[in-house]
Amino acid sequence: MIAEEELRRRVSRLSLEQKVRLLTGADFWGLHAEPEAGLRRVVLSDGPAGVRGESWDERDSSANMPSGTALAATWDPGRVEAAGGLLAREARRKGVDVVLAPTVNLHRTPYAGRCFECFSEDPLLTARIGAAYVRGLQRCGVGATVKHFVANDSETQRMTVDVHVDDRALRELYLAPFEAIVREAGPWAVMASYNGVNGSPMTQSPLLRDVLHGEWGYDGLVMSDWTAARSTEAAARADLDLAMPGPASRYGPWGDALVEAVTKGKVDEALIDDKVVRILRLAARVGALEGGPAAPELPADRPDSVAVATELRAAAAAGFVLARNDGILPLSRSGPSGPPAPSRVTQVAVIGPNAEVARTLGGGSATVFPPYTVSPLDGLRAAGLHVAHAPGVSSLQRAPQARAPWLLRPDRSGPGAELRFFTDAGELAGSELRDGGTFIWLGGFAPAGVTEPVARLEISCVIRATVAGTYRLGVSGLGRYRLAVDGAEVFDATLIVPEGADPGEVLMAPPQQLAPLQLAAGQSVTAVLTHDVHSSPFAGFGTLVQLILEPPHGTDDEEIAAAASLAAASDVAVVVVGTTAEVESEGFDRRSLSLPGRQDDLVRRVIAANPRTVVVVNSGAPVLLPWAQDAAAVLLCWFCGQEFGNALAEVLLGDVEPGGRLPMTWPVSEDGLPSTQPADGVLDYREGLFIGYRAFDRDGREPLFPFGHGTGYTSWSYDSMTVSDSPAQARGGVAVCVQVRNTGRRPGREVVQVYASRPGSAVERPAKWLAGFAAVNADPGETVEVGILLPERVFRHWSDAGWVIEPGAFTLSAGPSSASLPLSSSWQRAVP
Ligand code: BGC
Repeated sequence: MIAEEELRRRVSRLSLEQKVRLLTGADFWGLHAEPEAGLRRVVLSDGPAGVRGESWDERDSSANMPSGTALAATWDPGRVEAAGGLLAREARRKGVDVVLAPTVNLHRTPYAGRCFECFSEDPLLTARIGAAYVRGLQRCGVGATVKHFVANDSETQRMTVDVHVDDRALRELYLAPFEAIVREAGPWAVMASYNGVNGSPMTQSPLLRDVLHGEWGYDGLVMSDWTAARSTEAAARADLDLAMPGPASRYGPWGDALVEAVTKGKVDEALIDDKVVRILRLAARVGALEGGPAAPELPADRPDSVAVATELRAAAAAGFVLARNDGILPLSRSGPSGPPAPSRVTQVAVIGPNAEVARTLGGGSATVFPPYTVSPLDGLRAAGLHVAHAPGVSSLQRAPQARAPWLLRPDRSGPGAELRFFTDAGELAGSELRDGGTFIWLGGFAPAGVTEPVARLEISCVIRATVAGTYRLGVSGLGRYRLAVDGAEVFDATLIVPEGADPGEVLMAPPQQLAPLQLAAGQSVTAVLTHDVHSSPFAGFGTLVQLILEPPHGTDDEEIAAAASLAAASDVAVVVVGTTAEVESEGFDRRSLSLPGRQDDLVRRVIAANPRTVVVVNSGAPVLLPWAQDAAAVLLCWFCGQEFGNALAEVLLGDVEPGGRLPMTWPVSEDGLPSTQPADGVLDYREGLFIGYRAFDRDGREPLFPFGHGTGYTSWSYDSMTVSDSPAQARGGVAVCVQVRNTGRRPGREVVQVYASRPGSAVERPAKWLAGFAAVNADPGETVEVGILLPERVFRHWSDAGWVIEPGAFTLSAGPSSASLPLSSSWQRAVP
């Protein structure tokens, strides 16, 4: 590592202009190089469910790993650290130095659009998983960016909202994961969020200097969320180091304005020097500073390689939460060697909208283009099951993206489209053959390899009908679009931001324009979509265009009836329901927690037709499951990455145990959940400490599935627990030892959870809070003992005097979930 004095020496060689230039990105994803300081360009990239790289398209695909909730559901820091290693390899393969992840905001409420991306409603679980993620990346020389600091727990008005949160909730809940990760894993970057907290926008908040750097001793870099830096002087005086994106001539408040502020004495040049030191320190850590250590070599596996697939499949299954099982799972392939009925199956009805199209990602900046996705249908087929499929109903609220087998390139060489870029003068400036129907350009409309300014985009494709009927063809985008089919104009429409709409929502899910198309079976037509690039109000920031194609389908009633009769004729029905990136996304919050469309009706009808129904829920965050108690099994699979279907087959067939436990409470209804809707620009966290299970406990509300819940394929008894002070190992904390026995017939893994509580406390507290956890593996009949170290901090609460321990006895309880704690013991700090 390069010493601080050397970094300062390098800074002292630079002029004020050179230094200030480094403080805003060079472009959308890169920092400026500065040869005089030995600094090469440092590349940043989202994160967190894969490393996108600088281009955002299917020609440069990324290993798509499980999203935040799925990783947290493993309750397995070791596995998450390994996933961080995989991300690091992806980063290196794509020339990325710093990944913009993990997202460690809390699930304050399941309505939050980015719940899927965050880990948990609990700060301790978030911290453990987040720290592991950071270690996994950074041990391979790739920087992590812990985001979004802080209280960026929902999306509505996210650029401007001021969160009002009291000191205790801020410290004990929202800052807690950042603090633990900074102290335990030493992240090299932190991202300051868009929102404000208690009156200060986070990019100029005193929390940066006083708490992050001051109290926690953070020595890394603070970057702004994209366009979150707003003021020249206040942000410069706060400890914001890097305004993103760049260049300063287009984005952000620094550049020349900051040079002037320093020259006029409004901002101390020493503060600028400190920022540049932190930029150089980051560069040195990722191997981007001459004279510093080079980044370690990493194997460059392709994202579709067997090695990556194996790792992703195991990671997905490790997060699946078996929330309910009346014994139907695991299923067994038919054959003489399988176990006795009822689990043996010959014909499986695979039903539901998410069975054919796997939803492996939420929406927004966390989106990557995977090399492939294995749908549940493909996965179960590949596992050798005799499978029949009925889609039932749609999980989309809008028409779907165009895809194979209907969407073809004009030369029919494969699925996709041809893009042609034209200048103002109508000259062809470049073209691309693409494999899909989604196209994104960020930071202005500048396709790779096109040197002249583009005024018009032309997208050509062939639409080929598989069955006769009415197709709906069109676009999702902003600005002017014209569609011609076989040379005849079908529409000329300008798609605008609807009045009062949240800009975030419109950017992430732009409006659609569709036209009906009658096609005979096998008929093909040529479609040309033309877009005036500068007609979008956000053209300077980014352009998202999606070809939309809805094939013919029956009415919901017809499709549900068909699905029910298929279920009735099969041994077992596997219904895959869920949400999509259209519902769970950055940029907006959910308005309802129900499954979109008529999926609940579908599930009810299938269960009625065949009680041997396993419901697989493919959502990033909790949804309401009003039929849950009637299903033979409910398996929660999250947005779990490209290997979804293969992992599902392994788990349903019992080759692998579903390893997950819930990282958040699943509510029965929407009653009593915190809102994401600000009033007059203010979002008041009036529930204080009481989010998730802390709120359910206080109110005496029964959840559908409690925090920590989930079972594998065996059973456990909790036999004994001892508690002892363990100053050496747990820095003044406590060592808990729990004995559990595998009482079932299969080997298994159990996540032993320890919760603290404080009966008769003089301060307001949750009834209990997670204090520690550890996993054990045991064979049938085996008793194992697991040691769990609880840091002293779990007994402290935030007060006017800082972190204090209330004198007296705490209760520690251990068990398989927050709602089942068969063992308990008490602990009291020994008087010194
Ligand atoms: C998101 C960040 C992301 C950044 C860059 C922002 O809109 O909030 O999480 O890292 O964009 O894509």
